[in-house]
Amino acid sequence: MRISVLGVGYVGLILSVSLADFGFEVTGIDIDNKKIDKLKRGKSVLHEDGLNKLLEKHVNKNLTFTTSYESVTSSDIIFLCVGTPQNKNGEANLNFLFSAADKIKAYLDRKEYKVIVIKSTVPVGTNRKIKELFSDYNIDVVSNPEFLREGIALQDFFNPKRIVLGFESLKNKRPIILMEEVYNYFKEKDVPFIITKWETAELIKYASNAFLATKISYVNELSKLADKVGADIKIISHSMGLDPRIGNKFLNAGIGYGGSCFPKDVRALIRQFEDNRVEPTLIKATDKVNEEQIIWFFNKIKEYFNNNINQKTFAVLGLAFKPNTDDLRESRGIKLIDLLLKEGAIVKGFDYVEKARENAINIYKSDKSEASYGYNLYILDNIYETVKDVDGIVITTEYNFNKEDWEKIKKLIKNKVVFDGRNTLDAGKIKKLGFEYYGVGR
Ligand code: UGA
Repeated sequence: MRISVLGVGYVGLILSVSLADFGFEVTGIDIDNKKIDKLKRGKSVLHEDGLNKLLEKHVNKNLTFTTSYESVTSSDIIFLCVGTPQNKNGEANLNFLFSAADKIKAYLDRKEYKVIVIKSTVPVGTNRKIKELFSDYNIDVVSNPEFLREGIALQDFFNPKRIVLGFESLKNKRPIILMEEVYNYFKEKDVPFIITKWETAELIKYASNAFLATKISYVNELSKLADKVGADIKIISHSMGLDPRIGNKFLNAGIGYGGSCFPKDVRALIRQFEDNRVEPTLIKATDKVNEEQIIWFFNKIKEYFNNNINQKTFAVLGLAFKPNTDDLRESRGIKLIDLLLKEGAIVKGFDYVEKARENAINIYKSDKSEASYGYNLYILDNIYETVKDVDGIVITTEYNFNKEDWEKIKKLIKNKVVFDGRNTLDAGKIKKLGFEYYGVGR
């Protein structure tokens, strides 16, 4: 089977290498010349565990990369994996998707049967609109949302919890059989297949992401009360999670969720409610709590310094939106750096991932950055250099910082205080060493 993958960003690249690993003939297409050049040489453009290895194994064998759309002509299946970023009003921007669909038209024979699969996260009704674009073509459109987590995307791809496939009609077996063939590896592993109609499949993705985001916002809201009354949110979360009806995942209080998915998808879902004149009370609150959480934590830091952090120096540990990624989109660490810089603080930023540090440097260099108020910012590649002579440490990404030498940090730091925005540290141990410790709700 020949497969084309249009858009080799995060989702498209993981999909391309994985389908190649299943043995299919895969062509990854992207308009970004630089990216394609690098991929052709078997070099990954993302920081993702195991990706380089799979690329090297398949590239220029059953996996090729190109900027030309021509390969769609001979493909049985065309996956659309382009980005659907957020518009100013919160809705998903579908320009890339429709432009990609439009471009491939020129390469298709109207009579030849093909399946177009939409993997991009798209609002309800999008699959139907894409089908309308191809109304005079022999094409079926399939909705196939993805549930990969950055940092462990390949592991997630090969161990999915479900395969969701949405079709125009369940009576038409042809696209169903073809998609089951693509994902036969998972059929054999007894992974649940959800075969449903377009609208349901489209909503499953938003429903899942917004639910996880709501779990986080719920525990974050609780953390503020725990903080006030002297309770420990970590113990509360742990205890709640022991009840299998609640589950122990995504209950870690912190400074809020970030990344390219949760913030954007929560807002896009709000828009879909509003467009359909249904009030999204709970989901709106999820977004609001998330935006407020970082401000609440920042105020906590400020209060410690009697509301004046001008010329105070902070070590901010964690730049990416979560560990083991270089992705800074909607990163709470970057938001916090912005807040600190705006009030005259000096920031020394650190992340274990080199590319995350490079990306942070680029954000602040860029003229387009909101943070154009002068850069009292230094990005360092050594954690001990970062904490040297600072007035406080702020933890913004949930790395295991316990493994660092806190005896050494104690000697290097000017003022022994830690603001743990991810509740990652062993608070007892840190306090014993003579640090003041402020977590989230504990
Ligand atoms: C998320 C979903 O988990 C994936 O299933 C989905 O496929 C993906 O979005 C997507 O739509 O493409 P991802 O954005 O990689 O994946 O990140 P997560 O691991 O879900 O973490 C998101 C944010 O939540 C991070 O900022 C993390 O720090 C925060 N988080 C997570 C918490 O604050 N507390 C928790 O308990 C868990």
